[in-house]
Amino acid sequence: MNSREIRKKFLDFFREKAHKIVPSSSLIPEDQSVLFTTAGMQQFSLYLAAKKDVLKDFGTRHLASCQKCVRTGDIESIGDDTHHVFFEMLGNWSIGEDEKGYFKEGAIKYALEFLLDRLNLDKNRLWITIFKGEKDIPKDKESFDFCRKKGFPEERILEFGMEDNFWGPPAKTGPCGPCLEIFYDRGEEYGCKSKDCGPNCPRCKRFVELWTLVFMEYLKDQEGKYILLNQRNVDTGMGLERLTAILNNKPSAYETDLFLPIISKIENLSGKKYQENKKIFRILADHIRASVFIASEGVLPSNVERGYILRRLLRRMIRFGRMQGLRSGFLIDLGKVVIENYRDIYPELQSHQADILTVFQNEEEKFARTLERGLKETNAILEKGDIEGKDAFRIYETYGFPLEMIEEIAKEKGRKIKNKESFQEAFKKHQEISRAGAEKKFGGIGKEATYEATKLHTATHLLHQALREVLGKHVRQMGSDITPQRLRFDFSHPKKLTPQEIKKVEDIVNQKIKEDLEVKREEMSYEQAIKSGALAFFKEKYPPRVSVYSIGNFSKEICAGPHVKRTSELGHFKIIKEESSGAGVRRIRAILE
Ligand code: ALA
Repeated sequence: MNSREIRKKFLDFFREKAHKIVPSSSLIPEDQSVLFTTAGMQQFSLYLAAKKDVLKDFGTRHLASCQKCVRTGDIESIGDDTHHVFFEMLGNWSIGEDEKGYFKEGAIKYALEFLLDRLNLDKNRLWITIFKGEKDIPKDKESFDFCRKKGFPEERILEFGMEDNFWGPPAKTGPCGPCLEIFYDRGEEYGCKSKDCGPNCPRCKRFVELWTLVFMEYLKDQEGKYILLNQRNVDTGMGLERLTAILNNKPSAYETDLFLPIISKIENLSGKKYQENKKIFRILADHIRASVFIASEGVLPSNVERGYILRRLLRRMIRFGRMQGLRSGFLIDLGKVVIENYRDIYPELQSHQADILTVFQNEEEKFARTLERGLKETNAILEKGDIEGKDAFRIYETYGFPLEMIEEIAKEKGRKIKNKESFQEAFKKHQEISRAGAEKKFGGIGKEATYEATKLHTATHLLHQALREVLGKHVRQMGSDITPQRLRFDFSHPKKLTPQEIKKVEDIVNQKIKEDLEVKREEMSYEQAIKSGALAFFKEKYPPRVSVYSIGNFSKEICAGPHVKRTSELGHFKIIKEESSGAGVRRIRAILE
C-alpha cells in the first residue's frame, strides 16, 4: 500500500466515523509560540484549552487531519529508520465531551479498528504502553483495563512515567496529558536480543512507536503547574512515514514511495548506490524534502530562527552533496523531485516552485564561494587537534559554516570544539562592535545622548508589548531605529491604526512607566529564551546563548541591550507619527518628553 492510499484510508476511516476532515495548517504556527508546527494538535490548541468553541467553528467535536510537521530537535541524528525533520502526522480529535464525545475507550477502539481491521496489522505485534502515574497525576488504569478487555495480554501492556507517557505541551504552556502509545514489533532481526527488550528499549529500535493517543485533561500553566482542564479531549498522532514503512515491510520510509524517487535521483546524479552510502543518502533525501516544505512557507535562509534551520539543512546538504560528487545545481534537481512527488497533495509546493528553487540556487551559490576555503582552514586546524570555540566562531563568521556543521566536521575526525564558551564570547564581542557602530550612528554625541537612546530603547520594548496587547499577537518587530531624539519602530500589522488604538498604546506604555517596573537581564540558551516566551527580532543574529530583558511581568525580549534600570526613568511617552512602511508593515515614531 503506498503512502497516498494510506493517507486516504486514514481520512476516509474517520470521515466514516463522523469526523470532520480539516486540512493541514501551515508549518509556521499562528501563535508563533514555537518555531514550527510539531504536531497535528497545534492548530486546535485554543479549542483543546477550552478557549474557543469547537462546535461553533467546526460544527462537531470530532476532527481528523494529516498535518505537515517539522521537528528540529535531532537534525544531527537523521539517517536512522524512524526520524525525519519533516513528516506528516495523521491524527484524530475529540474535543470536549457530550453524549457523542469519546474519551479513552473510544480513542483506543478507533485506533485498534483502523490498525487491525482496516490495515490488517498483526495484533500479536502490537504492544501498548500507558502512564504509570507520577507528579500527582494518577495512573491510567482505565486504559489498562480496556486494553485487557480488547484482548491484550498483561505482558504486552507496559507502564512508563512522565518522560515517555505524558505528552506536551509543545510550547511553555498549553493543553497536555497522559498518553497511551501503540508500538509495533518489527521482529527479532531488528532487536538487541536482550531478555528485557521491549517498547522504549534503550539499546535498540526493534519496537517502533506508531500511534500516540493523548488523553488531554491538563493545562500546563506559566509556573509549570498542571491544572485540570474544564473539559476532556482526545488528541492522537501517528507518523505517516513509520506507518508506510511498516505496511510495506521495509526498514524505513526511505525504501517506500515517500522517498524512493529522491533516492533514485541521488543515485542517478552521483553514480553511486544507496545501499553503499545509506546514511548520507538518507540525510540528503530527508533534508531536501524538509527544505522544500519549509521554503514553501516563505522562509528564507538566514542566521536566526526558521531561517537558520533552513540554512543549516541546505548547507549540510551542500557539503555532503560535494562529498558524494554531486555537481552544483543538485539542490534544484532534487527539489524538483520532491515537488513532483507531493504536488497533488500539497499544491502550495507547485505554486511556489519558482521561489523555492531560487532560494536553493542562491544559497548554493553563496555557500559554494566559501565552502572550499572554509573546509581547508577547518581541516588545517583539526589536523593539529581540537578546534577552539573562538576559532569556530571565526569559521562561522568568515565562511558561513553553521556551528553544528563545524562540530560535525570535527566529530568526523575524532575531534571536538574545545572551550565552546569562547564561541559565545567571540559572538558577544562581535555584537558589541556592531553596537558600537550603531552608537556611532547616533552621531557620536557622547554619554548624554547615549542615555537618551538607551531610554528610547527600553521604551521600544514597552511599545512592542503594548502593540501586541492592543492589536494582537501577530504584531512582530520588523525593524527599529533609534536616535537620541526619537525612536522609530516597524512592525507587522495589516492596517492603519485608529486614533483610539494609538491612544490605548500610549496609555499602556505610560502606565507601565508609572508603575516603575524593574528592567532585568538574564542569560540563557536561545531555545530556553524562546520557550520562556521571550520575543525575538527575526532579522537579528542570535548566538546559542542570549540575554533576555524583562520589564516587570509585562515584556520579555531577547536583546543585547543597553537598557535603563527602571521604567520610571523614561518620563512621558508620546507617539508622534503612524504610517505605512511597506505591505503589511506599519511604522511608529515616538518620543519621550
Ligand atoms: N500530539 C501528540 C503527538 O504529537 C499526538 O504525538
